[in-house]
Amino acid sequence: MQDDLERILFHETTILSRLDELAAQISKDYRDRELTVIAVLNGSLVFMADLMRRITLPLRLDCLSVASYHGKAQTSGEVFFKQVAPPDVKDRHILILDDILDSGHTLAAIREKLETAGPRSVKVCVLLSKKRKRDRAVDADYLGFEIEDEFVVGYGLDYDERYRNLPYIGVLRKELVGK
Ligand code: IMP
Ligand code: MG
Repeated sequence: MQDDLERILFHETTILSRLDELAAQISKDYRDRELTVIAVLNGSLVFMADLMRRITLPLRLDCLSVASYHGKAQTSGEVFFKQVAPPDVKDRHILILDDILDSGHTLAAIREKLETAGPRSVKVCVLLSKKRKRDRAVDADYLGFEIEDEFVVGYGLDYDERYRNLPYIGVLRKELVGK
């Protein structure tokens, strides 16, 4: 799998030490409150597992599954929720976790949907954010790393469902994207 990468962007140790900082900030910001983490599957699975074990607060976990891709590397703009009923978030402080903020379609749709269910507060935490113009405006309240507009895989992120199990994050070789 490593041969398919152009270069490594973040080694596992770099990711984990950034998660220590993010978790400390989240634990501080939500102290004395109960947090509900809503993880967006499948991409945020590895990130979620490592981040939540560093948060020192009582928390609940729910997962959401959406499909927003028709192609393998391009966003379609349409977001389909795979659950019939969204998680019960009424009066809760919710923190949406996703792997990467790209066009903004996915997180904007999820945020909108969860806001209709009456949460007390909604914040967004993403591991990566691409430097690009978004199709829909979404701000991450907590961000791991900002990256260039390149296709990345590993640490939960996939290309056509592969590479999620790489422990680090790297840029996929351009000739492999879009095939
Ligand atoms: P958005 O709706 O365009 O913001 O895309 C968000 C989703 O697209 C993420 O949750 C990922 O699943 C996927 N995605 C976007 N860019 C990348 C990438 O560089 N590598 C892997 N998945 C990506
Ligand atoms: Mg994906």
